[in-house]
This record gives sequence, structure tokens and C-alpha cells, in this order.
Amino acid sequence: MPADQTTQLRYASSLERVAPYPKAGGYRLPDHVALMASNEGPEPLDPEVQAVVAAAAAGINRYPDPSASELRGELVGLWGVPAEQIGLGNGSCDLLIALGQALLEPGAHLVYAWPAFSVYPMLAQLTGADETRVPLDGDTHDLGALLAAIRPETRLVIVCNPNNPTGTTLPADQVADFAREVPRDVCVLIDEAYVEFSDVCGPRDLLPLIEELPNVVLLRTFSKAHGLCGLRVGYGLFGSVEPVEATDRIRQPFYLNHLAQTAAVAMLHRPEILDRRVASQLTARDELAAGLTARGFTVSDPQTNFVWAQLPGMEGLDEAARVEAEAALVAKLRDAGVLVRAGGALGEAGRLRISTGTPEEQARLLATLDA
Ligand SMILES: Cc1ncc(COP(=O)(O)O)c(C=O)c1O
Repeated sequence: MPADQTTQLRYASSLERVAPYPKAGGYRLPDHVALMASNEGPEPLDPEVQAVVAAAAAGINRYPDPSASELRGELVGLWGVPAEQIGLGNGSCDLLIALGQALLEPGAHLVYAWPAFSVYPMLAQLTGADETRVPLDGDTHDLGALLAAIRPETRLVIVCNPNNPTGTTLPADQVADFAREVPRDVCVLIDEAYVEFSDVCGPRDLLPLIEELPNVVLLRTFSKAHGLCGLRVGYGLFGSVEPVEATDRIRQPFYLNHLAQTAAVAMLHRPEILDRRVASQLTARDELAAGLTARGFTVSDPQTNFVWAQLPGMEGLDEAARVEAEAALVAKLRDAGVLVRAGGALGEAGRLRISTGTPEEQARLLATLDA
């Protein structure tokens, strides 16, 4: 390799705007490291689903079905949304970014709450669109302020419900009333990545909007409750066909791989596995929240498989002091083999976002806080 790697390549200006995605300490980590930073859930893939995926591996000498017809058919049966109004993606991020690219460009405008999912800022950065980040009201979306931020150039408004990183969730009727107020030429994307964990707004609660509003998308993923994030599969339930076709036009033809399609179908055939995973992560989450609260943390009302916890003693500290405090705690936990996310990187310093772990991992985390 030559010593000087400087090239004379000329890059697109969008590259200067996009920050690299944090790699959570790297992924080739020793087995004992507790991965509590990415909201994945600790349970390994169910052995039955593993066997189905392993058997399907023999077919990977062929391209995957570009229409994902079996998976699409299962989703039609489950949600009652027409097949052509279901968009699929290599993870829901793929669909999110494709939708951003299909709708946004310089001069266009994007609205979302902040702090929310760290990929939303990429949509404006990639496309050169303007954006408005609307501050949360406490830890919850301020729907009135989101509405007020919409202007004639706005083409996309995002509501993350349940919200990452705060874990809070608005009831379906409030989100539906909001969506009805948004002008019909603005796409309303409701990101429901954690919807299976919520008892405030569940997976069926916003489905009626799909029939009512052609500009609505419910974004879903198999990464979280279903535990398939390593395979990358997500989908959107759209109020109309046109934006689905738009997102398909700007992506490579075979974006959803064969094993991902197979695993997603296998999970949909076995709803009891999903129920077990959700139940065990909710139990773990409640234990985690209780353990943190007992240690002086302030935990937001979590409707997800993670908690958003403010460190004790943050009141009255300035931003720099809060960043220092959270960094020290993240480092202490890392030294004990526990990875969590620092709030500063997610939009609010002095907090940690902690995903559920195994009972042993959670006990290690709490013991490290006590040490
Ligand atoms: C709110 C939210 N939306 C979407 C995603 C993307 O998930 P995936 O691309 O794995 O489907 C995540 C992942 O963390 C998330 O937190």
C-alpha cells in the first residue's frame, strides 16, 4: 500500500454534509461484551427459524425474488393492506433513506422532532434539503409545534412513535389527528420500529390511516422485536402506490436478500416466537428501569426495548459538564464489558440510552454503577 493515500477524486458535495455513522465500539468484540447500545434484544434467533434459514441458504446461487412475493403476501394477510401499497427495504433505514431521496432536494424542506432517530438528519444532509428539528416537549413529540413547522416547501414530516431515543409514545388518536391536519402534498412518515413493545400505540392502532390518507406511511422493521437485524429487512405500509414505486425506482433491483425474505416469512409463520421475545424484553426493560431508578437515574416512560435515563445530579450542570459525566460513565461501563449509548451523541447530554440485555448483562451493568 503506498504511504500517501491522498487521491485526486472529486466527491459529491453531499458527502461533506454527511457525518459517519458511529460504530458503537466496533463489532468484532469478545463474546462476554454486553451489546446494550443498539436496541437489538439479547435472545438469539429461534432454532426453528435458524433451521429454515439454513435450508434456504442452498438457494443463494440465485438472485432473490425482487418482488418478495411470499413475504408481501404474508404482510397483506397480516395487515390487510394491498400488496402494491407495501414497500420493502434492506432494513427499514433503506426504505427511509429511499423515501427521503425520492421526495427531497435542494429547496425542499423536511420536519422532524429532536432528539429522535439518528438517521433522520441524514435525509437532509444527503439531499441538500432544508430541515427543521422541532424540540421535544419534555421527552415527547410536540405535535402542535411539528405542524406549525410545516411550510409550503415541506415535503416530508416524520413522527417517531415510539420515539428513539426517549422511548416515549403518543396515543394513536393524537397521531392520527396530527396526520389529518398535515397538507396532503406532504408525506407523513410514522416510524414504528418499536411498535410491538408499546401498550400506548400498538401495531394495529394506526392502520385505519392507511385507508384514509394517501400521504401516510407506517414504517416497520423486523430488526427489533423480531430479532432479525443482522439480515436487514423492513417495510412500509403506504396510503398509496405511487411513493412505493418512487422508492423502488431509485434503488438497486434486488435490495432484499433471499435469507432475509425467508427469515421474515418464518417469523410471521410463528407469532408465538415474537410474543415470547417481546414479553421477555419487556420484563428485562422494567427490571432495568427499576434498577436505574433505585440508583437515582430518572427514566422516561419507556414503551420500547430500551430505556432513556438521565444520570443523577445533572440538574444545574452545563452541557460540557453533562457530556463529561456521561462520557465517564460510558467508559466505566465499557471497561466492565457493557456497551451503552451516550445521550450527547443522540441529541441530549447527561443521559444514557440502554438496551435490554440478558439477566447477567443487566446485573453486570447495575453492579458496575454501584462500584
Ligand atoms: C426509530 C428507528 N427507526 C428505524 C430504525 C432502523 O432499523 P432497521 O434499518 O434495522 O430496520 C431504527 C434502528 O435503530 C430505529 O431506532
